[in-house]
Amino acid sequence: MAFVHPHPFVFLLILLPISAVAQNDAGYVNVGSSLTATDENSTSWLSPSGDFAFGFSPLNQKDLFLLSIWFAKIPDKTVVWYAILDNPAPRGSKVELITERGLVLTGPQGNELWSTNTTGTLYGAMNNTGNFVLEDSNFNKLWESFKNPSDTVLPAQIMERGGVLSSRQSETNFSKGRFQLQLGDDGNLVLHTINLPTDNPNEAYYESQTTAGDSGTSSPGEQLVFNESAYMYIRRENNQMVALSQARVGSTADFYFRATLNFDGVFTQYSHPRTSNANGSWNPIWSVPDNICVASNAKIGSGTCGFNSICILKPDRRPLCTCPKGYSFLDPNDPYGTCKPDFIQGCEEDELSPGTDLYSFEVLTNTDWPFSDYAYMKPYTEDQCRKSCMEDCMCAVAIFRLGDSCWKKKLPLSNGKVDSSLNGGKAFIKIRNNYSITLPDDRLPNPNPKPENKNQNNLILMWSMLLGGSVLVNIILIVAICLGVFFIHHKRLKRPIPNVDAVEMNLRCFTYKELVEATDVFKEELGRGAFGIVYKGAIQMSSNVLVAVKKLDSLFQENSDKEFKTEVTVIGQTHHKNLVRLLGFCDEGLHRLLVYEFLSNGSLASFLYRDSKPSWNLRVQIAVGIARGLLYLHEECSTQIIHCDIKPQNILLDDYYNARISDFGLAKRLIMNQSKTHTNIRGTKGYVAPEWFRNMPITTKVDVYSYGVMLLEIICSRRSVDLETIGEQQAILTDWAYDCYQEGRLDSLVEYDVEALDDRRKLVRFVMVAIWCIQEDPFLRPNMRRATQMLEGVVEVPVPPSPYPYSKTS
Ligand SMILES: *[C@@H]1O[C@H](CO)[C@@H](O)[C@H](O)[C@H]1NC(C)=O
Ligand SMILES: *[C@@H]1O[C@H](CO)[C@@H](O)[C@H](O)[C@H]1NC(C)=O
Ligand SMILES: *[C@@H]1O[C@H](CO)[C@@H](O)[C@H](O)[C@H]1NC(C)=O
Ligand SMILES: *[C@@H]1O[C@H](CO)[C@@H](O)[C@H](O)[C@H]1NC(C)=O
Ligand SMILES: *[C@@H]1O[C@H](CO)[C@@H](O)[C@H](O)[C@H]1NC(C)=O
Ligand SMILES: *[C@@H]1O[C@H](CO)[C@@H](O)[C@H](O)[C@H]1NC(C)=O
Ligand SMILES: *[C@@H]1O[C@H](CO)[C@@H](O)[C@H](O)[C@H]1NC(C)=O
Repeated sequence: MAFVHPHPFVFLLILLPISAVAQNDAGYVNVGSSLTATDENSTSWLSPSGDFAFGFSPLNQKDLFLLSIWFAKIPDKTVVWYAILDNPAPRGSKVELITERGLVLTGPQGNELWSTNTTGTLYGAMNNTGNFVLEDSNFNKLWESFKNPSDTVLPAQIMERGGVLSSRQSETNFSKGRFQLQLGDDGNLVLHTINLPTDNPNEAYYESQTTAGDSGTSSPGEQLVFNESAYMYIRRENNQMVALSQARVGSTADFYFRATLNFDGVFTQYSHPRTSNANGSWNPIWSVPDNICVASNAKIGSGTCGFNSICILKPDRRPLCTCPKGYSFLDPNDPYGTCKPDFIQGCEEDELSPGTDLYSFEVLTNTDWPFSDYAYMKPYTEDQCRKSCMEDCMCAVAIFRLGDSCWKKKLPLSNGKVDSSLNGGKAFIKIRNNYSITLPDDRLPNPNPKPENKNQNNLILMWSMLLGGSVLVNIILIVAICLGVFFIHHKRLKRPIPNVDAVEMNLRCFTYKELVEATDVFKEELGRGAFGIVYKGAIQMSSNVLVAVKKLDSLFQENSDKEFKTEVTVIGQTHHKNLVRLLGFCDEGLHRLLVYEFLSNGSLASFLYRDSKPSWNLRVQIAVGIARGLLYLHEECSTQIIHCDIKPQNILLDDYYNARISDFGLAKRLIMNQSKTHTNIRGTKGYVAPEWFRNMPITTKVDVYSYGVMLLEIICSRRSVDLETIGEQQAILTDWAYDCYQEGRLDSLVEYDVEALDDRRKLVRFVMVAIWCIQEDPFLRPNMRRATQMLEGVVEVPVPPSPYPYSKTS
């Protein structure tokens, strides 16, 4: 063996008594050293530069820890390596460096949880590159974290053939996930899903195509190299480099880098500013595949999202998984998981009621589940296709495409995606009409609700879309239905009813017969909302008054009397010039109706979306009016009201074009200190705040988000999502607005609206406020008081950040 230079450690051994020192300044760790999982301050082993630490990271769940390596100088804890265990290590676990066994992780009872299983260890070292190394007395590397990666690679890390990165379950659950990145023996770098709990892979959804080729003429890939300058490539046997991306990366002097196989299957390289006081974040530089929703095409497995779900690509190129209407997440806490039908479909069930219209179709465009076919009819018309699926008790979905082709599909559906290359192909999803019959009991009215019925049992996550995602997104329109809204809060049922009598003095109590007459047997429909249909009517009060009568749909009829009265009371107690007034109600058995004042100028939607732009000053007045109305609902009325469905259709205009918010108080009304509760997703496509899709508390900030989207619509007099009349780049207003704002192109944002451009300072201010309101992170959004002050120019508007920061570790 060649002569070996004395290793620095040899001198250290001489200088320092081993037993006394756990770790010295050079990153070395002596045999016999150990760390114990206690609290956040438990010591770790640092690299000499202090950039990386090895030790226990506390997990979100109390008393659980992860044996890991992380970036030690940045505030967001970012784990780059972890011991993959079935269960996290409990408090009191210990990791120790032992000569005969290497690193050994034991539980509080001394049971072994994990080990490097190496013999002859002399010492360990936390290297400045982020590599934890065990070496023997000949300075041979016995074990390296770089050679046993989890989901992340770092600059200077090399993966040989057979090497694997394995995703975690979710951002915060470090158990083994479904996705793998592997450099195969053939030299191909692939991304694939596996069939847990085994490692058996499905077909790849990304390939580097660095094999020897069919004719064996190319040189196959040998290593995946993430070089010291943070460029990633595949090195072929002939030393040719195949870059994974042409993207330029910054300097390693200024940035930290990592490349992580995210839990949703997207492999991304990130950078983070090094400066220690930086409140920067991890920014993506590139990722593969380009579109994971379309790329994943394995016949086995669910695809990127769970079974029966639909994958939509977000602007950050990460997937959003949604359930079709009539379906909801099997595990409400797993928004990337499988969707289950909320109804029972089966040949036996269908036979019980022959000849009735058991099902209807939800139609989605450019949506497909490419597998799960059991019949393929061609030539066939759309009508034949629908009918064939409708009459077939096996059929869950029919796809009609290419003008004459009809596929019938059975459950479970896999690889669901929205894909513009489907050229307008239609998906007909069969949903049982009357599926409340199959709802579990706890969703039905229950006079003595059990406390555990409170939250998630009631979640019926019917996704509605979306937040400025890809252009294709808006093709999906699934309006959230709100089932059981009123059965969620146990407390609420018990709460004393605020002085019903007083309200009944203010509010007129109508008989059903009176309202039938007033509306001329519900003759003229004014609109349809989430809770029922609104009809025009006229009633005799002091004079003949025009009214809008809302016939609440059947969901409301399941409410107890008391609850209905409570709702009415709360709505009746609101008085603000920017809210629509409730004049009275009817509560006769199954007939529950609300009588509102009639507003002559229709809805903000019809005002904004007409051909000629309404005047800028009116638009400003309306925007400020809505903000004041919302502020009142959130902070100033006796009971806090979260609207949950702010959109131009729900804003009405009176004779003087004052904005009046309608439909409030029906969706979700919470007492102030209850405001951090989860309830059903509700709201409307395009206006729904991101937290509905995440496991985050629903607060008044959801209204702020919707308000922000609507404010942009008011500023631009256009729809938040418009595929038909404008180019793709501009189709999603929230994206377009931020781009324009950043590039100083407000003139093109407002389509050269002279009035608005003349009032440029106000225009800029309004756009900035809107961007603050649509921040993905609800905490960054202002509350309505602040938003109103900023609109009015009472306070300065700070420069808003991008509304879509790349998803940070939560
Ligand atoms: C952890 O360290 C911080 C700062 O040094 C200190 O304020 C805190 O009390 C410590 N926590 C425990 C549990 O020791
Ligand atoms: C440790 O390694 C030895 C030899 O390589 C092997 O026989 C043994 O099963 C391993 N033990 C564990 C717990 O992996
Ligand atoms: C870190 O790794 C590099 C490259 O393998 C090596 O030259 C260096 O000595 C290592 N440092 C420590 C502290 O082990
Ligand atoms: C992580 O996910 C796995 C698989 O879904 C689950 O079994 C495990 O309990 C989760 N762990 C934690 C700590 O939540
Ligand atoms: C890393 O790769 C890039 C691109 O191939 C190259 O320009 C750079 O010199 C390499 N850096 C190192 C340290 O090898
Ligand atoms: C974060 O950045 C802002 C502006 O760049 C700066 O004012 C602030 O002090 C920074 N905060 C921290 C904690 O570094
Ligand atoms: C729905 O199902 C229930 C229970 O089977 C039945 O009583 C009710 O009449 C059905 N409603 C409709 C509209 O079909």
